[in-house]
Amino acid sequence: MKTRICGTGSALPKRKVTNDDLSKILDTSDEWIRSRTGICARHLAVEESLTSLAADAAKEALDEAKINPRELDLILAATLSADHLVPSLSCELQRELGAENAAAFDINAACSGFLFALQTADVYIKSGQYQKILVVGGEILSRLMDWNDRSTCVLFGDGAGAAVVLPDETSGILGSVQGSDGARGEALLCENRKNNNPYIANGTGLSYVSMNGQEVYKFAVRTVPKAILEAIKKAGLAIEEIDLFVLHQANIRIIESVSKRLKVPMEKFPTNLESCGNISAGSVPILLDHINKKGMLHKGDHIVLAGFGAGLTWGASVLTW
Ligand code: UT7
Repeated sequence: MKTRICGTGSALPKRKVTNDDLSKILDTSDEWIRSRTGICARHLAVEESLTSLAADAAKEALDEAKINPRELDLILAATLSADHLVPSLSCELQRELGAENAAAFDINAACSGFLFALQTADVYIKSGQYQKILVVGGEILSRLMDWNDRSTCVLFGDGAGAAVVLPDETSGILGSVQGSDGARGEALLCENRKNNNPYIANGTGLSYVSMNGQEVYKFAVRTVPKAILEAIKKAGLAIEEIDLFVLHQANIRIIESVSKRLKVPMEKFPTNLESCGNISAGSVPILLDHINKKGMLHKGDHIVLAGFGAGLTWGASVLTW
């Protein structure tokens, strides 16, 4: 039995913010952001909540899969920026969708989160415990940014993507890998609120995302090609048999480096980071939905999905569409 993606969906906030817009409030420029990252614009949540974005994405995915929310057995949401610490995004989504028969929980594996959630869904389906699963990845990272730190806040965007997965005899996930390196976690950090119990002095305060960009960059270009090759091997395929590589959208230079190391042309690496920026757990499912809507996915195609980021974490899956 395989786990097949039968529907996708995505939602971006209405407010689009270009590099030029940012250069009016920060010491930055379109030239710097574009040449270092490939990013030209991103969407930032002003009116939307993460729950509302995730619900819009989920409804599209459910429609395409022809699944009623009441049929769902499980909702898995990957995020590090849920609207509340509790209830989880997945439980809020359950309420919004009226998916009253589903169990629901969140997964935090940062930018690899959608891959970890998808692979968790795969294990549940293979075990026979659940059949109809909604997997969501989404972020409102703009709430975690230090808007005075030009080295991080220009990189990220907000949005949510969703996939409905069902058991299938022939098509679906063929092989997956996942990994973590907690020892190098400080490279990309966001502290929770400080403990303010009565026995701690100066306990209050909030912190924002801080990143050693070059450390994360080196980690990504070394780890992602290896993970992809391992997943392709597990799937029993050769790299030439892969039609598309749907990678986490952090930086066009990282994607170009992966393409070069794998000796695969850039045409096989669709991107949307130009208009979306880095949406962490949202980026892979949003890009997957964008290429699905453009008609770039055909039955029988072999697709690689790969994510990497804070933790540090990485994950890759190979599937037949
Ligand atoms: O989802 C995974 C999360 N993160 C990533 O994947 C990030 C991976 N890393 C990267 O993409 C790159 O390291 C960055 C895009 C973050 C940075 O690019 P870089 O080529 O490594 O630049 P840098 O950090 O070495 O900074 C170069 C210069 C510095 O100035 P000085 O010290 O050379 O005078 C920065 O202060 O660029 C300056 N700078 C900026 N200038 C204009 C940093 N941010 C900006 C900015 N606008 N927004």
